[in-house]
Amino acid sequence: QPVVVAIDGPSGSGKSSVSRAVARHFGYGYLDTGAMYRAVTVYCLRQGIDLSDADAVVAAAEELPLGLGADPDDPAVTLDEEDIAAAIRTSEVSAVVSAVATNLGVRAVLQDAQRELIDAIAEDWGGVVAEGRDITTVVAPDADVRVLLTASEEARLARRSTELHGSADEAAVAATHDQIVRRDRDDSTVSQFTEAADGVVLLDTSALDFDGSVGALVEIVTA
Ligand code: CDP
Repeated sequence: QPVVVAIDGPSGSGKSSVSRAVARHFGYGYLDTGAMYRAVTVYCLRQGIDLSDADAVVAAAEELPLGLGADPDDPAVTLDEEDIAAAIRTSEVSAVVSAVATNLGVRAVLQDAQRELIDAIAEDWGGVVAEGRDITTVVAPDADVRVLLTASEEARLARRSTELHGSADEAAVAATHDQIVRRDRDDSTVSQFTEAADGVVLLDTSALDFDGSVGALVEIVTA
């Protein structure tokens, strides 16, 4: 029976890197659901679709020519075969992705697609690690393992700041703060990822480094 591991958390919790490492550890496939919201955003920006036009953005999500690779060592993201792995991570996209993610019609379309992907990847790889903000609660509430990865705001800002600006000095953290805190606030209006739901294991990584976080999560999956 393939194993489904669901991981949620806010930005800077280490979710993506830790999820990939855990998938690699067990030889499972990987699904980054945030990449799907980001891909819809890139597609709309390129097609000139107004993000506040709710119906147009839902139609974009439905027709999205998206390709996702499940290999945790190389999680390819393509639109019409074009590699958009870098394009989905720009600060321009991060700044507006919540406008797409708070569109409930888009969520319904992507959540259905995610359920199908989780089943297909789990079947292919013997297991899947799927990460996002509503995987433990809405997309895969029946997952074998459900974990909410958190970290203090301070720790999350330091991590994101280092990722984005190569430093966690005062100026870099301040620049990161506005983006991250606003995005988490907007995202939390539609997804519940600040407190662990019933039956979801809470893993606080504030005091853990990368290897420590991976080790703790591997232990939770093994238990
Ligand atoms: O990397 P980071 O954690 O900052 O973000 P991400 O996982 O790439 O997700 C990007 C955006 O997609 C989030 O800010 C949410 O707006 C949205 N998202 C969502 O609404 N539900 C999910 N399951 C995953 C992402």
